[in-house]
Amino acid sequence: MAGITDLPFRLICKKLGTDIVYSEMISATGLFYGQNNKSLLLAQSIQKESPLAIQLFGNDPEHFAKATQIISKLSKKFDPPSLNFDEANKEMHQTFNFRKPEEININFGCPARKIYKQESGCFLMKKPVLAKKIIGAIIDNTDLPVSIKIRSGISAVKALEFLEKIKGLNWTKVIVHGRTYKEGFSGKIDFEKIKKIKESFPDKIVVANGGIFSPENAREILEKTGVNELAIARGCLGNPWLFQQIKEFLKTGQYQKPSLEEIKAIALEHAQLFEKYNTTQSLIAFRKHLGWYFRNFPNAKQLRKELFLIETSRDLKKILKAN
Ligand SMILES: Cc1cc2nc3c(=O)[nH]c(=O)nc-3n(C[C@H](O)[C@H](O)[C@H](O)COP(=O)(O)O)c2cc1C
Repeated sequence: MAGITDLPFRLICKKLGTDIVYSEMISATGLFYGQNNKSLLLAQSIQKESPLAIQLFGNDPEHFAKATQIISKLSKKFDPPSLNFDEANKEMHQTFNFRKPEEININFGCPARKIYKQESGCFLMKKPVLAKKIIGAIIDNTDLPVSIKIRSGISAVKALEFLEKIKGLNWTKVIVHGRTYKEGFSGKIDFEKIKKIKESFPDKIVVANGGIFSPENAREILEKTGVNELAIARGCLGNPWLFQQIKEFLKTGQYQKPSLEEIKAIALEHAQLFEKYNTTQSLIAFRKHLGWYFRNFPNAKQLRKELFLIETSRDLKKILKAN
């Protein structure tokens, strides 16, 4: 999730049971031109969160090819001259954390106006020839597995038709958000379409996404679609326990909810990780997570007022101690 699944949050999700984490979407064009190091900074990672998939978006195969080379060469000493790091960035670079990820994912699912207008994201489901070139450009430039993220459809194009057109390529996994472009982020998940995709592509890993906010939702989507894996987005906001809850529920039919003390401890750890690893933003950008962690807190309204003033993890510690 753009603006949310940065390294600190991914570390928290990993700690609480997810099997793989995905980066925020990163502009292939931003990486191609190299001067917008903000794009590159989104690719920071440490070994502890492995396996990590880096997600790219864009619409120019040449940009994807170069971006893929960059991503595939990431390492601690990463500083290619082609990126034109300026002095300030070079200095910052000392504190950056780069490593080669375990997967590259392509965004064919984003409906956001800004992305769609650039003919990227979900728009590309209407352009299978170009999508094929993009996937090919990535596969040709990396030894990493390449996966794709799509929606259940856009206009008259259904996910299955799109996948049929790109099936000759060696992508390994497809994450299907079971809503159409038009439905955006609400509406019922199309279990039938996801099920048909799994049946039509038995050799690919098919991942169901959309509307998983509880272990019960997870079980239902698994049973109704027969997919290999599940992808969770909004369900883990303020509730990264969801990953382990789902695993527990599928095994035993029961799951535990975190206590208030556990929520406080994770919120604080998350804030500390944010201070340590988010090299571009102050803790102001972290406050939204506090709103999510403490939305069901007994004295939520008053507490949130206080939490939305914090500037350091020390401030947070004090407030949590007093409440
Ligand atoms: C704030 C926000 C940012 C998102 N950013 C991305 C993104 O960068 N890449 C992507 O593939 N999907 C992105 N998504 C879509 C989610 O990955 C997911 O497909 C969608 O929210 C449906 O899943 P959910 O019902 O579990 O939230 C984003 C969603 C939200 C709400």
